[in-house]
Amino acid sequence: MYISQQIAANAVNQVLSGRNLTLALPEALSAFPDATPQQRGAAADLSYGTLRYYGETNAYLTCLLEKPLTDDRIYTLLLVAIYQLLHDKADAFTVVNQAVHAVSQFRKPTPKQWAKGLVNAILRNFLRRKDEFAAKLARTEVATYSYPQWWINKLKVQYPGHWQSILVAGNQHPPMTLRVNTKKISIEEYLQLLVRQDIEASHIGGQAVVLTKPVAVEKIPGFTDGVVSVQDYGAQLAAQLLDAEAGMRVLDACCAPGGKTGHILELADVQLTAMDSDAGRLQRVQENLSRLQLDAELVAADAAAADWYDGKPFDRILADVPCTASGIVRRHVDIKWLRRETDVASFAAQQAKILPNLWQLLAKGGKLLYVTCSVFNEENQTQVDKFLLQHPDAKQLPLSVDYFKDLTQLNGQLIPSSAHDGFFYALLQKN
Ligand SMILES: C[S@@+](CC[C@H](N)C(=O)[O-])C[C@H]1O[C@@H](n2cnc3c(N)ncnc32)[C@H](O)[C@@H]1O
Repeated sequence: MYISQQIAANAVNQVLSGRNLTLALPEALSAFPDATPQQRGAAADLSYGTLRYYGETNAYLTCLLEKPLTDDRIYTLLLVAIYQLLHDKADAFTVVNQAVHAVSQFRKPTPKQWAKGLVNAILRNFLRRKDEFAAKLARTEVATYSYPQWWINKLKVQYPGHWQSILVAGNQHPPMTLRVNTKKISIEEYLQLLVRQDIEASHIGGQAVVLTKPVAVEKIPGFTDGVVSVQDYGAQLAAQLLDAEAGMRVLDACCAPGGKTGHILELADVQLTAMDSDAGRLQRVQENLSRLQLDAELVAADAAAADWYDGKPFDRILADVPCTASGIVRRHVDIKWLRRETDVASFAAQQAKILPNLWQLLAKGGKLLYVTCSVFNEENQTQVDKFLLQHPDAKQLPLSVDYFKDLTQLNGQLIPSSAHDGFFYALLQKN
């Protein structure tokens, strides 16, 4: 266990210094090439768990420290161990002993005996006084919900009736949801295929099938042949709402890694242009399309500029704009700690450039679907309201997907729940 603790402590340390977990974890794993697949899996679970509950674990650690700890490796190792003691099934004394062993493996300059004694004393103190601290921490929202205070405050103002459920949903483990290409196989046939592989699953609506337990992608029947993709249920609404019909010219702006690109093409034979400013991420779109045996024109360009545009208007535009990603924190647990309050305004400013620029490329009568995976209003309806004020040729249409009843609840704001991530959808039509 101590190797997994060490890897997780390194990954968490990097995230707390500002790096994405998707970059930090592989790098932390690469420093332990001899780690077994089981140790690597455990390290990933510990990294995600520690960051999911960082507000809480950090609050406990602050109670336990008499003075600030200057060695951040020991600090994050303690966070990982406290996370295990609070949320993991592992035996408490094994967790403590392994953490003491892990700290003894650190290279200089930390004196080993001092570090081992400190880790041992802090964790044993935690076990003795956990209930006393818990009563104290129950009064602080950062420890209770494990989000930054500015985030909690913003949701309280913007969602007086839902803020707690949004915070709680963001700390859950996401389900593994598949999107079935119903042009290739019916939902019933695919469910039978899963039964034959002993994979428990159920159909939740549209093309979405949720697995009772996550499975490695290479073990999902039909994944490599493009029969199914992995995609959140809420994200699967985008292609439905876009309402593209065969033969239409469609622009998928900000398309990478291409989750929605594939779905648009699975639903209708359209002429699709998929663009993203990140050429590296466009490569992933190509890989996804190849797996799905689908085609699109890929363009590396800035959605806030029109220098790449050939002058032929699009009938449909999907604008899946860059955003804080505050609606998908259950999958990207690092976002809660990487984002700053000022980022909300920065993303809103980028979106305010992209949306009017894409609007110029839309045909008369055409529809643009504005999408974010954020729960913050500044990026969502407030952004759309400002756009509507400046664009009299635009009107916002009601949203409807027959099998998905939550959609109209908050005017296109999908509240994160156990079934889906948080998204915002606004469908705009040009007069
Ligand atoms: C929310 S992600 C898109 C997810 C994608 N639509 C999917 O379903 O898989 C936002 C994307 O916007 C891209 N992006 C950010 N700024 C951009 C810009 N100015 N122009 C075009 N793409 C941009 C990012 O590279 C990123 O891939």
